Amino acid sequence: MADEEINWKQYLADFHRQRAGVAEAVLSRALSGDHTPYRWLARAVSHDAQTVLDLACGSGPVSRELQENGRMVVGLDLSEHELALAKERGPGPWVRADALRLPFADHSMDAVISSMGLVVVTPLSEVLAEVARVLRPGGVLAAIAPALRPLSPKDLRVLTRLNTRLRTKPQFPGPVELAGFARTLELYGLKKVEDNREKYRFTVTSRADAELMLSALYLPQTRWSRVEAAIEHLEDRVAKRGPVEISIPMRRLVAIK
Ligand SMILES: C[S@@+](CC[C@H](N)C(=O)[O-])C[C@H]1O[C@@H](n2cnc3c(N)ncnc32)[C@H](O)[C@@H]1O
Repeated sequence: MADEEINWKQYLADFHRQRAGVAEAVLSRALSGDHTPYRWLARAVSHDAQTVLDLACGSGPVSRELQENGRMVVGLDLSEHELALAKERGPGPWVRADALRLPFADHSMDAVISSMGLVVVTPLSEVLAEVARVLRPGGVLAAIAPALRPLSPKDLRVLTRLNTRLRTKPQFPGPVELAGFARTLELYGLKKVEDNREKYRFTVTSRADAELMLSALYLPQTRWSRVEAAIEHLEDRVAKRGPVEISIPMRRLVAIK
């Protein structure tokens, strides 16, 4: 299937209905030292930010990281199934809306954060225009997104073996490595002030871990038999050689208006 044939809108709606909470289930177990990518993103937000929007919040892991006395963290997502989990787990407010049409006034947010949202909501230029509109002057956008590096030769070998079974790589609707991010920001009066990378590791110790990891990937062009082959490969490696560490490189971008 050619790339342009993927109906991402439908794929994302189905994925997040059937697998609500799966991103959190994996990323809350992805570690670099003692912290998760969610904690890393939350650290980019100043204690002075009193009104924060968590864009494409999913089941709300970063909103919960940011809850502090007196601060309002609004979680926004398009999926009612993700938001149902978010409501069970944290205080909200939780808002069901499209990130391309934010139901907030101009200049109403001190900070906008997004974990994995900017590679999912497309087009990137339109979502950044909305972020710029709702941020107050001096407000901050902080986002994390999957990256292609850093990866060691050993990390690459593990990932290549998986991709060989899948006969593809995980995909996102948005641009790989958020290409064009800084240039687009400038169009809307934001300036990139930080661009860092960090490598997280998800450890597979059982078939259940392998199933969880694989079920969190967007694989719109992959038959289930290929996913099953990747799961069996991991299960076999664990049985023969012990836990398998899967590397998840992440990029954290911070911009100021
Ligand atoms: C990869 S998940 C990330 C969820 C959460 N931020 C996390 O890191 O655990 C992407 C999220 O984007 C949401 N999403 C997709 N398109 C959207 C849109 N146009 N507006 C708002 N949310 C959207 C999905 O429902 C899903 O919850």
